[in-house]
Amino acid sequence: MNFSSPNFFILLQFLLLVSLVYHVFSFDTSFHQISNQTFQQKEKIANRLQQINKPSVKTIHSPDGDIIDCVLFQNQPAFDHPLLKGHKPSDPPERPKGYNKINILNDNFQLWSSSGESCPEGTIPIIRTTEQDILRAGSLDRFGKKSIDQVNSLAHEYVNAQFRDGGYYGGQASFNVWAPHVEYAYEFSLSQMWVVAGAGEDLSTLEVGWHVYPQLNGDNHTRLFIYWTADAYKNTGCHNLQCPGFVQTNSKIVVGGAISTTSMYNGSQFEISLMIWKDQKTDHWWLEVGPGNLIGYWPSSLFPNFKDHADRVDFGGEIINSNSKGTHTSTQMGSGHFAEEGFGKAAFIRNMELVDHNNNLNMAQNPQFLEQFPNCYDQKIGSSKEWGSYFYFGGPGRNIKCQ
Ligand SMILES: *[C@@H]1O[C@H](CO)[C@@H](O)[C@H](O)[C@H]1NC(C)=O
Ligand SMILES: *[C@@H]1O[C@H](CO)[C@@H](O)[C@H](O)[C@H]1NC(C)=O
Ligand SMILES: *[C@@H]1O[C@H](CO)[C@@H](O)[C@H](O)[C@H]1NC(C)=O
Repeated sequence: MNFSSPNFFILLQFLLLVSLVYHVFSFDTSFHQISNQTFQQKEKIANRLQQINKPSVKTIHSPDGDIIDCVLFQNQPAFDHPLLKGHKPSDPPERPKGYNKINILNDNFQLWSSSGESCPEGTIPIIRTTEQDILRAGSLDRFGKKSIDQVNSLAHEYVNAQFRDGGYYGGQASFNVWAPHVEYAYEFSLSQMWVVAGAGEDLSTLEVGWHVYPQLNGDNHTRLFIYWTADAYKNTGCHNLQCPGFVQTNSKIVVGGAISTTSMYNGSQFEISLMIWKDQKTDHWWLEVGPGNLIGYWPSSLFPNFKDHADRVDFGGEIINSNSKGTHTSTQMGSGHFAEEGFGKAAFIRNMELVDHNNNLNMAQNPQFLEQFPNCYDQKIGSSKEWGSYFYFGGPGRNIKCQ
């Protein structure tokens, strides 16, 4: 072929045109498929949001960015559960006897109500779930849940006081609140109480505490949270009110809401007392935050394993170590300081008490301690008249001895 001939250029132009049209065409179809998928996904998320977010009587914009909806009590997510259709709200339970009434919590410990805003009577405050919240979870199915991978992975590290004698009808303690640094969004740092019944596939838990969990919450605020599962974290359970399970009765406290005050290193200390116990008349398990703030209950119909009593109660700290870059995380536990630093510097849990079958609170005796990586996070136990059974715990994570 003669490359200078005009025929060659005509051929070349033709080939170019064909390939151009072909590319534009194929780009166009795949673009349609992608946008159609995106569209369907968006629609699914929108449907889910409509299901989760209930009509609000009043909306409050919290300084931390949360939107708080005041939702009529009977419209709350719990009542979407088939077993709770027509559920009549339970009367307030009898408090355990010997209840320690040190008043350490004022009503305005959450940011959303610090400006004096509140929800009207007959409603409960719920954080509005946004599209971003669902996208951060990675998928609709994972939203609100601890994924099985996460639960079973070795990446969880604990420092716990464990009570494993069984026959428990509840527990309570006062938790020192901090704002630990969390290195990656998908890691967390928490301090909580676990009330546990059953084992294996039937493991059921009722959990309450404070945490910093960027992936769940979209920020680094220290927040009050609850969690529960009735099947070893498999199909049931979620954080806060993100799925039907917990019946909230309180109109002043947001489950999942940010805590406005945290402790200062070598400075003022902040603590909240948390209690979970069984109302033996109804078999519901109630939650109280600080003396006098009944939050609501886990209804008995959803927790067959808690029909009688709990088998274990644990108190402690937990972090996720994702071991990114092949080194231990620098996510802090507690205050980020080791237990030996003591009051004002290390985090503590004090006045650990357990409820017996006569509805008496007793000092929790002889804990077993779980301390997995003492070079990263450790504990120091004690007991005294004023502080009952207590321990200091925490640490900085990565350091010369913890790599
Ligand atoms: C999107 O995809 C679904 C099937 O996956 C199809 O039924 C529907 O017609 C598509 N919509 C558009 C606008 O292409
Ligand atoms: C949380 O803190 C980390 C560093 O400590 C920061 O990189 C990140 O942007 C913060 N996340 C949010 C949502 O504020
Ligand atoms: C703690 O505070 C005291 C008095 O407020 C001060 O003297 C001391 O140096 C501080 N210690 C640390 C480790 O910051």
